[in-house]
Amino acid sequence: MTRLWRSTPILWLFVFVVLCGFEAKADHSVSLRRNKREWIVPPQILEENVDYTKQLFIAKIRSDKEDPNKGPIKYALKGIGADQPPYNLFIVEPSTGKVRITGILDRESIAQYNLSGVALYPDGSVAENDIQLRIKVKDQNDCPPVFLPISVGSVKELSTVVMKLNVTDNDEFGNVNSQIRYEIVEQKPGGNMMFSINQYGEVIVNSANLDREAVDQYVLTVKASDLNGASGANTAMATFNIQIEDVNDNPPILEQESFEASIEENTDNLEVMRFKTTDLDLINTENWQAQYSIVSGNGGGHFKIVTDPKTNEGVLMLVKGADYEEVKDMNLGITVSNVAAAYAGSWSSGTVVVGGGGGGGGGEEEEEEGGGGGGGGGEEEEEEGRRIMGNGRQRGFW
Ligand SMILES: *[C@@H]1O[C@H](CO)[C@@H](O)[C@H](O)[C@H]1NC(C)=O
Ligand SMILES: *[C@@H]1O[C@H](CO)[C@@H](O)[C@H](O)[C@H]1NC(C)=O
Repeated sequence: MTRLWRSTPILWLFVFVVLCGFEAKADHSVSLRRNKREWIVPPQILEENVDYTKQLFIAKIRSDKEDPNKGPIKYALKGIGADQPPYNLFIVEPSTGKVRITGILDRESIAQYNLSGVALYPDGSVAENDIQLRIKVKDQNDCPPVFLPISVGSVKELSTVVMKLNVTDNDEFGNVNSQIRYEIVEQKPGGNMMFSINQYGEVIVNSANLDREAVDQYVLTVKASDLNGASGANTAMATFNIQIEDVNDNPPILEQESFEASIEENTDNLEVMRFKTTDLDLINTENWQAQYSIVSGNGGGHFKIVTDPKTNEGVLMLVKGADYEEVKDMNLGITVSNVAAAYAGSWSSGTVVVGGGGGGGGGEEEEEEGGGGGGGGGEEEEEEGRRIMGNGRQRGFW
């Protein structure tokens, strides 16, 4: 016994990795340096999908700590792939320590096996500390890129990043087998390619001219190729929609530049006239809804202006009975804008002037450049109605 304690126990590990078939056997005999207590073995590499089951062994473990009194050493394997599922993928011949593999490896299931080699005396006592036997599974490009569900993309016109596509590839992370190159293969409607796609799968607006008022939806087909797009790559395709969202980049425009209407003397709550506007932005949104206000000429508080929500027209109302003298020289300054603010200063709202001119002396109190137009209306005094003449221009620009 004393003599045995003094002897240096050694557990040998021989690994033979067969990379290309039976004949081309590469012999990686790993010679280990004793580190008193532990053996550190670099991971041995076997390629997935390759059949090594015909090989007599892929590794060999042996302990020289033999004790004639205790009988021959028996070897066993522990760990996932040996005494834990998948059971007996790796088996060891108890007397020789030769490790065989009984199945085909799949890196996407288990990328590395961490086996322990056990050396036992026939009585079951441990002859040697366990040795680590690590089998690293080499990736093959056996997984295609896969598009995860793609929700409809949207981007505001005049902006840049649309969406990021989610693509997975189960091949090894960091390996070219899982490196994806993206390519837009089709755009509908065609014409100028409005989008591009970068290496991260982000769809980017190419053109500064993305204009909802021209095209409000695109359909893109994108191809993803692994191997970073090299030949022989696995590929996948996906088709998805991109909606172009409206921004308030169009001003409301008054249909005409001059207005006229007649009012009854001493009436109130009377609709005097309507201003029609057009707005190219998305109908029934705040980018389209017009907002009118009277900015000058309504000192007497006779008028108010409201928006007809159905037609988007401005409705000028007489709310307080006015007599002829009060309104005959009226100039109303009216502005039109949208409920939403103009997009990034793309336009500004202007003022339209409605000039009143029931009386002969119209025009002398013009407050706005567009006002006036009252002249010659005096004869209408005989009529019941009073005319309000409008002659304005819109100063909106964009
Ligand atoms: C083996 O060990 C490595 C590194 O600790 C770990 O990533 C891997 O999951 C282990 N394998 C198994 C099958 O437990
Ligand atoms: C990608 O995944 C993220 C996180 O789950 C999700 O928010 C995003 O909408 C996905 N992209 C697309 C284009 O569907």
